[in-house]
Formats: sequence, C-alpha cells, structure tokens
Amino acid sequence: MDLEVYRQLKGKIHSVVGINLDPYKDEQMRRRLDSWLARSGAPNWDAYFERIKRDEVELRRFRDYLTINVTEFFRDPERWKYLRENILPELIQSALKRNRQVRIWSAGCSTGAEPYTLAMLLEELSPGKKAYILATDLDRGALEKARMGGPYVAEEVRNISPIQRSSFFKPGGPPFYVNSFLIEKVTFRELDLIFGEYERDFDLIVCRNVVIYFTTETKQLLYQRFSDSLRSGGVLFVGGTEIIPRPQEFSFRSTGFSFYVKS
Ligand SMILES: C[S@@+](CC[C@H](N)C(=O)[O-])C[C@H]1O[C@@H](n2cnc3c(N)ncnc32)[C@H](O)[C@@H]1O
Repeated sequence: MDLEVYRQLKGKIHSVVGINLDPYKDEQMRRRLDSWLARSGAPNWDAYFERIKRDEVELRRFRDYLTINVTEFFRDPERWKYLRENILPELIQSALKRNRQVRIWSAGCSTGAEPYTLAMLLEELSPGKKAYILATDLDRGALEKARMGGPYVAEEVRNISPIQRSSFFKPGGPPFYVNSFLIEKVTFRELDLIFGEYERDFDLIVCRNVVIYFTTETKQLLYQRFSDSLRSGGVLFVGGTEIIPRPQEFSFRSTGFSFYVKS
C-alpha cells in the first residue's frame, strides 16, 4: 500500500482499534497490514472495518496481531540464567542493605509469562521475601489473560522445570495456569509505553521484544525514559536481538549481552 493509504489507515485504526501506529516502523507495519487483509478474506479495508465493528472477537484478534504478543516463560533461557546468576543476587543484596523491597518492572509483559518468570526467580533466590513486581502492557486482552494466570499452552511453558511446575502452577494441564501464590506476587496495569506515565526507582526493568517494532526515535525516547525510571545501579534487561548502540547517551553501560546498568 502507498504512504497516503497507510496514513489514512493508521487514522482509522487509531479511532476504531485504539492503537496509534505512528511510533511503529512503517515498512514492517505496512507489510503486516497487507498480509492481514489478504488473509482476512475482506475485499478492502472499508469492508474489514465494517466487520470488526460488528465482531468483537475479530476486533480482538486484529488488536493482538497489531501488538504482536508472542511470549513464553524463560524466553531465551541463557539470558535468564545470566540474570539469575549474575544480576539478581546483587540487586537483592543491595535492596536488603537499604532495607527496602526489590522493585522490578516488566514493561510490555504480554500475557504474563515474563513477570511470572521474574516472580519465580525471586522466590527461588530469596524465599518468602516481599518484592514489588509491576507488569504493564497496552493490550487489555493480554492483561486479562495475565491476571487470570493463564491458560498457557505447552510451548509457552517448555522451559519450566518439573520443580517449578509443581511449586508455581496449578495441577493438571495442558493448558497450564500459574497458581494464586504466583499471581499475588505481580501487579498488572494497563500502560502505553510511549504516551503513559512511568513509575520510578526500579532496581530492574525488563523490556524484551517490545521496542523492536518501534522507530529509532521512539526507541531512543524509551531508553531515556527507562533510564530515568531506574535507580542508580539499576539494570535494564532487553531482548536477545536488541542492542543499544551508544548506551552512555542514556547513562547506561553494557554489562553482559542484553544487560545495561544505569550509572
Ligand atoms: C512480543 S511481546 C513481548 C512479551 C514479553 N516481553 C516477552 O519478551 O516475552 C510484545 C508486547 O509489547 C506490547 N506493546 C506493543 N506496543 C506497546 C506500547 N506502545 N506500550 C506498551 N506495550 C506495548 C504488546 O502488546 C505485546 O504484548
């Protein structure tokens, strides 16, 4: 589709679906929209919008597609192992010394696998200790599932150990549900990372596989905002393919692949 058509389509999507696509990479999003329309069987966008105005389920499917909420527990296990062994123990110690709770934010948490992964790790590393785990996303459908603790399909829990399965999940499955012990450890909230207000003073911000869809300017804006929301010595954990080219511009220094410490 050409740029003018895309511009109009973005306006329509904003008003009907409630998602502003301006911060997302144009080319990638145009391709995704073209292929969605082709697969939908609708002859054109006008016909498709008529359909989603009448069909809640289709509207939700479209929303999910636009926000791309694929996730799983311990996604990229090697990175989580590094977090567990090299980052979290120090953050926990430092919070203990200052007599306060560890504060963690999963930004773009999708259906909850990521914040629940964090809750499991914290419980394993410092059993019974209270922590604040905030998990946010702009996708209401995803948050609804996250708050319910599932259902998760077998693929999403493939990196969960048998011990974790028995300690943190309800018996049975598939599909799988985390138990209320874990659900109570996470605070879920709807938040648009571009336009919303951030909480501050975090020890760790986990924002993985979210900014890859954004333009360079939007990414830079978010890195600056994440930096502002971390305490000095706090850590930003990004996705496996995400690299901050000049971290010092945001008061970050790289420590291990995917991790940046705020100075
Ligand atoms: C691919 S998922 C990543 C989930 C998880 N972080 C992980 O790595 O497994 C991307 C998530 O980012 C969310 N997202 C996209 N744009 C967003 C925005 N502007 N504000 C907040 N969340 C956003 C989507 O709704 C989706 O749930």
